[in-house]
Amino acid sequence: WVDTNGATTPSSVSTSLLTKNKPFPIRGERANYVNTPHVIVMVGLPARGKTYMAKKLTRYLNWIGIKTKVFNLGEYRRRMTHKYKNHNFFRSDNEEAMALRQRCAMEALEDVGTWLENEGGEVAVFDATNTTMLRRRLIFEKVVVEMEYKLFYVESICDDPSIIESNIREVKVSSPDYSGMTSEDALNDFLQRIEHYMDMYQPLDEEAEDHLSFMKVYNTGQKVVVHKHEGHIQARIVYYLMNTHVTPRTIYLARHGETMYNKMGRIGGDSDLSDNGERFGEALAQYIKEQDIPKLRVWTSWLKRTIQTSKGIDAPQERWKALNEIDAGICEEMTYADIKQKFPVDFAARDQNKFSYRYPRGESYEDLVARLEPVIMELERQGNVLLIAHQAVIRCLLAYFLDKPSDKLPYIEVPLHTIIKLTPVAYGCRVEYIPIDVPAVNTHRPKPEVPGELEDTVFPQCMEMDS
Ligand code: ATP
Ligand code: F6P
Repeated sequence: WVDTNGATTPSSVSTSLLTKNKPFPIRGERANYVNTPHVIVMVGLPARGKTYMAKKLTRYLNWIGIKTKVFNLGEYRRRMTHKYKNHNFFRSDNEEAMALRQRCAMEALEDVGTWLENEGGEVAVFDATNTTMLRRRLIFEKVVVEMEYKLFYVESICDDPSIIESNIREVKVSSPDYSGMTSEDALNDFLQRIEHYMDMYQPLDEEAEDHLSFMKVYNTGQKVVVHKHEGHIQARIVYYLMNTHVTPRTIYLARHGETMYNKMGRIGGDSDLSDNGERFGEALAQYIKEQDIPKLRVWTSWLKRTIQTSKGIDAPQERWKALNEIDAGICEEMTYADIKQKFPVDFAARDQNKFSYRYPRGESYEDLVARLEPVIMELERQGNVLLIAHQAVIRCLLAYFLDKPSDKLPYIEVPLHTIIKLTPVAYGCRVEYIPIDVPAVNTHRPKPEVPGELEDTVFPQCMEMDS
């Protein structure tokens, strides 16, 4: 038997699997439990955005606290062989290469199992083409019957040649497969690689593969079909992928201008802008005007300092309560020195695990991420947005866009009077910090060597920043 996605079928797979119309084998019992780990399997021809979606989904799931990892078969192939010379590697009659590709797939699935079983993984994303029914049955056998995980397929279908060509130009011509080749040669080779896959491609079939849970995304999201999805994680994945788009746009993030409380070293509250804060608002409005950004939307929190900062900006504005600063509970409106003096145990506990520490009658960064999830979902749907919010809120949003782990998140630097410009590129985001020339205090308290230590050289004393 030959799996047209890659060589001979391993002997461990029962031959009943290989007969197209035979029923699927019985699922392992564990696959019926709610908290069983998931394997998400990408499906689609080359240059259909599978890696893009796999990486983006992984970043999102990790950000909401679900431990997720991508297993990319291209990387397994490149580790296993340097034999890639040109598209002929991917011909279905290239038996040596087929056998190798099959071995890579099985090895990657073994690693998926090890990671989910021994390293606390919750969702593994298997990023390969998986373009034949037979390959998908083999995956079902391995993942559901043998390893007893939940399985969900995500297929990307795109028949717009201009999207495919621009995808190849954006990411494929710079692939390690094409090092030393001109862009035009790489483009031509990649188009022929796609032809080889098209000879064998079988899209997910609602009848013949009725037992599978899957979604299909057509032409970057113009249409989405969902088939038998199971449980809340798959529902979240479907919802997330339905909300994302690939149209170029820019997101600008900025904290409010400096406030009276910032100058006093007090946290939280709802104070007014200082004179310098007002000047920052004016400078921000001027900067935005100069950029002449099409269809810009401005979002602020409900607190006075962000609304005052956005006052002069000539664009439609919306207020989000979800963008309000972290609620410091019983510590609201205190300085860090006050907190250290009144609640020394809490002050030190926060330094030990700042992400999970919840202020008594207030919030943690972990709570804040949950509160901000609808904001991220809406940002994914939008075009150009300027979001004016607060230090802790912007740290959480930046962690999502820049894929920062939760232990680093509460220490991301978000200076006052600085615009942060995010531009989606290839598989991630480019970030630029644009300082505005208006002085402000520094409110960043770095992680101390010893929990509970408060250096008197930093905030709350009013250090003017060089901006
Ligand atoms: P390969 O099989 O060679 O690994 P791939 O399907 O993984 O290819 P990607 O490397 O993810 O393709 O292609 C990235 C490009 O796909 C980006 O330019 C991105 O804008 C675009 N893209 C993202 N989502 C989609 C989609 N749903 N349909 C088509 N293109 C998409
Ligand atoms: O000091 C400004 C501020 O926005 C406070 O309102 C908020 O409590 C604090 O920053 C969040 O930063 P950290 O989590 O580092 O204390």
